[in-house]
Amino acid sequence: MAENRTPILRLDKICKSFGGVVTAKDVTFCVYPGEIKGLIGPNGAGKTTMMNMISGIYTADSGDVYFNEKKITDKPDYARARMGIGRTFQTPRFLQRSSVRDNLMIGADLGNKIGYLSGFFGRKSTNFYQELKEMMDILHFSFNWDDDINSLPFGQRKLLEIVRSLLSHPKVILVDEPAAGLNNKEIEYLMDILRMAAKKMNIGVLVIEHSMDMIMDLCETIAVLNFGELIADGTPAEISNNTAVIEAYLGREDDD
Ligand SMILES: Nc1ncnc2c1ncn2[C@@H]1O[C@H](COP(=O)(O)OP(=O)(O)OP(=O)(O)O)[C@@H](O)[C@H]1O
Ligand SMILES: [Mg+2]
Repeated sequence: MAENRTPILRLDKICKSFGGVVTAKDVTFCVYPGEIKGLIGPNGAGKTTMMNMISGIYTADSGDVYFNEKKITDKPDYARARMGIGRTFQTPRFLQRSSVRDNLMIGADLGNKIGYLSGFFGRKSTNFYQELKEMMDILHFSFNWDDDINSLPFGQRKLLEIVRSLLSHPKVILVDEPAAGLNNKEIEYLMDILRMAAKKMNIGVLVIEHSMDMIMDLCETIAVLNFGELIADGTPAEISNNTAVIEAYLGREDDD
């Protein structure tokens, strides 16, 4: 089914090493519009490095990255962000000593392709507040516009980083360990907003996560990395019965 559609993201034989450490070895997989795909693997398997090669922070040693079947391997990170590749980080990254308003406006401005300052002159997207309200209803918390972003609890900052990215109307979003540091309720709301992004906004969602319960519940397909090698790519049922995956994870569950 998925094979008949055009992937929004395609990795083709990606290789990357740091010195002697191989973090990607001929890695090939796709993300489709409206699909939630998991990227899992033990610590140090190369998951974050893979996201960095998709968003353009790192370049692959060899292999190509395609966005909507257009080769973007040599494009810089800001060009990829403008094309519609959004991302969040293992630790949320915001403007320092800045309000929630400023941080969220940055996201919306990226999507509107209007200058940041234009927000102050009333040229914000007319849908901005409506979209934001819908997202905050899903996340079940509120904030004051003028709050310093770093005064918010860690979990809320992590969720707001996803909101900021979604406000830019990405075509694909890369989410690195979004559940780490969140309480159970926040994890529930996190899954709701990622599902909304995929199903309502038709965004391709690539999510790295150590919580297998969450990955199995959330993802339609899952790619598994081990020492930079893609050892499996399939549905949750296929992944949980795959012997190579079971071996890679054996004895590691307690660590994660
Ligand atoms: N800039 C870098 N320079 C040198 N080595 C690096 C660099 N970035 C990552 N590595 C190494 O590449 C390997 C893969 O790291 P990566 O952060 O991609 O793992 P990961 O799968 O995201 O792990 P985790 O689950 O712990 O976040 C690790 O051995 C790491 O030390
Ligand atoms: Mg990582």
